[in-house]
Amino acid sequence: MSDAAPPARTAAVIPAAGRGVRLGPGAPKALRMLGGTPMLVHAVRAMSASRAVSLVVVVAPPDDVAGVRALLDEYPAPERTDVLVVPGGATRQESVRRGLDALPDSVTTVLVHDAARPLVPVDTVDAVVEAVRDGGAPAVVPAVPLADTVKEVEPAGDGTPEPVLGTPERARLRAVQTPQGFDRATLVRAHREITGEVTDDAGMVERLGVPVVAVPGHEEAFKVTRPLDLVLAEAVLARRRVNDGF
Ligand code: C5P
Repeated sequence: MSDAAPPARTAAVIPAAGRGVRLGPGAPKALRMLGGTPMLVHAVRAMSASRAVSLVVVVAPPDDVAGVRALLDEYPAPERTDVLVVPGGATRQESVRRGLDALPDSVTTVLVHDAARPLVPVDTVDAVVEAVRDGGAPAVVPAVPLADTVKEVEPAGDGTPEPVLGTPERARLRAVQTPQGFDRATLVRAHREITGEVTDDAGMVERLGVPVVAVPGHEEAFKVTRPLDLVLAEAVLARRRVNDGF
């Protein structure tokens, strides 16, 4: 018997318990088909494509755990990857927390990935995992420079002109994608200590005062939110099929 520490394990949590998140008419967003395969399945595949990821935890609507389990069983992940389905909570944060609660003790690195970013390339997933494991920072986000100039405004929300308050220097701005990668203990602490609305998990870690770093993201890791994004996603899949020689 060796008393060496168990190998570092990386797990990915995919919060997909949102209700009524729809992208135009049709199925809930995570179940929309892309290239004949549900978006959620693409997201699970994107995580399990990384040899570093040995477990994927899908957080499902509490009343549809069996349905999501059945769907994922139809599209099995590679044999080296376990896929768990657990019930989510009332908010995204609560759902991620439930995903974290389901992780075995052996997991030391956690990725949190949007189901709505089905096409993130494996190289981006690997780069995030490596950056966390290298120990440079306990939280790592993939990020891309912005093409648009960004203005801060006083939101009106009703279509009336909005006063512009300022223009942050574009070269210093990044659009942040997922998977975001974390030292497990740091992310668990953030979820225990930080309350209030945050739009990403790294934001919670920032509020702890813990360093977060950005690594290069990828244009194919875009979030599918508008109907036009579905067209783009189909085009990316078609290009991959051509490049893969199918
Ligand atoms: O609703 P929103 O766009 O903020 O949801 C972001 C992600 O969080 C979606 O993948 C959604 O399924 C997930 N979510 C969740 N549990 C909730 C609410 C949202 O897992 N209670």
